[in-house]
Amino acid sequence: MDFRQITAAERTDKMFPLQAYAFMPSPWPAEERDKYRERMQYYESAVSLVAEEDGQALAGAAAFRMQQNVRGLVHDMAGVASVATHPSARRRGLVRELMRRLLRQMRDEGCVVSALYPFRPSFYARFGFVGIPRHRTASFSPEGLSHLTRAELGGEVEQVSMADGFEVYDAFTRHLLTRRHGFAVFDEVRAAGFRNDRYWVAIARSGGEVVGVLRYRIDRSAGDLRASHLLTTGPVGQALLLQFLGRHVDQVSRIVLTVSTDEVPELWGTDIAVVTEGQVGGPDRNAPMVRVLDMEALTGTPAGPGAVTVEIVDDELIGGVWQLESAAGRLSVTKGTNPVATLSAAGFSGLLYGVLDPVEIGVRGLGDVAAVPVLAEMFPRRMPYIVADF
Ligand SMILES: CC(C)(COP(=O)(O)OP(=O)(O)OC[C@H]1O[C@@H](n2cnc3c(N)ncnc32)[C@H](O)[C@@H]1OP(=O)(O)O)[C@@H](O)C(=O)NCCC(=O)NCCS
Repeated sequence: MDFRQITAAERTDKMFPLQAYAFMPSPWPAEERDKYRERMQYYESAVSLVAEEDGQALAGAAAFRMQQNVRGLVHDMAGVASVATHPSARRRGLVRELMRRLLRQMRDEGCVVSALYPFRPSFYARFGFVGIPRHRTASFSPEGLSHLTRAELGGEVEQVSMADGFEVYDAFTRHLLTRRHGFAVFDEVRAAGFRNDRYWVAIARSGGEVVGVLRYRIDRSAGDLRASHLLTTGPVGQALLLQFLGRHVDQVSRIVLTVSTDEVPELWGTDIAVVTEGQVGGPDRNAPMVRVLDMEALTGTPAGPGAVTVEIVDDELIGGVWQLESAAGRLSVTKGTNPVATLSAAGFSGLLYGVLDPVEIGVRGLGDVAAVPVLAEMFPRRMPYIVADF
C-alpha cells in the first residue's frame, strides 16, 4: 500500500469516485465529475492524501487550511474532510493510517488545532477529537419582530447578492475570527469558492462600520426565509438585522435562522413566538469535533489563574508531561515532570475549548483530573461557536 499526497488536479480521478460513492446518490450522472473538477481550483491549498494499491486509490482524507479562535488566540487549524474508503477496502486500517499521517503533516506545517464534522463521533474520538456544540435553529414568524419595524436604530441594512457582497461578507467573518471563541474561517483559496453561492447577503452598517452580516435565501412567496448564522459584533448589528428580517412580514410566513448555543431568541421581542431547537445525530447532522495538535503553541492563551502539571496519554502528537502555568491571565505550556493528573487528548481538548469541566472528563472516561480543581479555574466553561461548515 502506498500513501501519498496528491494535487488538487489529481483529486478528480483519485478521490471523486470514493467520495461520490460514500456521500452522493449513486450511480451518479456523468456531469457530477465535471462539476467536481471545476470546484478543484478552490482545493489548491488543501492537503489531500490517498492510500493506493497498484495505482488505484482505495481511501482518501484531506484537510483544509483554516484558522480558529480558541479562547481569544487565533491558530492555524486543519479542517478535516473528504474522508472515505472504497467499500472493498474498509476496516483494513486505511483511514486510521491516513488520519495519523494527515494530522502529523498538518501539525508539522503549523496547525495547532483541528476540527471536523463526524459521520459518527465515536469513530473520531479514537483520534483524540472531542465534541463541541452544534448550532441551534430559531423558527418564527416575521410578525414576532414587528416592534422593530419603525424603530430608529442608528444604522442601515444593504441587501446584495453574494457575488456582490462577498468581499464585505468575507472580511467581516475574518474580523469576527479575532473576537469570538471557536469561530473558524477558511483560507482565501477555499473561501473564494463561496462567492458563487446563490445567496442574498444583508449587510448591517452603523456609523459607516459593518456591524452584522446575514446570508439567506427565500424559497417562495409565503414560504420560508432560510438564513445561516446571525453574525454581528453586538446588539446594534443584531437589532438592525432582525429589523430587516421583520420587514419581510406578509412576504414570507416563516424565518429559519441559525444561532449559537448562547443566543436566546425568546428575548428578541415581547410577543415573539419562536421554536429554538438543536438536532444532533445521524451521519450528516452531528455536532462538530475538535482537538489540539500542538501543546507548546498554546502558550499565550487567555486562562484563569493557576499552575498544574498534567500527563497526556496515548497520543502521538500531544502525549507527554506538560507544565501548564497561567500568569497575568496568559497560559504558558512547557515540558514538565511529576504530573498530578492524567488526561487523554480528547479530555485536554475538551478543557481547552471550554466544553468539559474536570468532573465531566472523569465521568466520560477521558482522564483522571476530578481531584484537580485548579484546572476548572484555569479553563472555565466557555462554549465555542465554530460557524464554518465543511
Ligand atoms: C468510515 C470509513 C471512512 C472508515 O474507513 P476505514 O478505512 O474502514 O477505517 P479503518 O479501517 O482505518 O478504521 C479505523 C478504526 O475505526 C473503526 N471503524 C471503522 N469504521 C467504523 C464505523 N463505521 N464505526 C465505528 N468504528 C469504525 C475500525 O474498527 C478501526 O478501529 P481500530 O483502529 O481500533 O481497530 C469508511 O467506512 C467509509 O468510507 N464510510 C463511508 C463514508 C464516511 O462515512 N466517511 C466519513 C465521513 S466523516
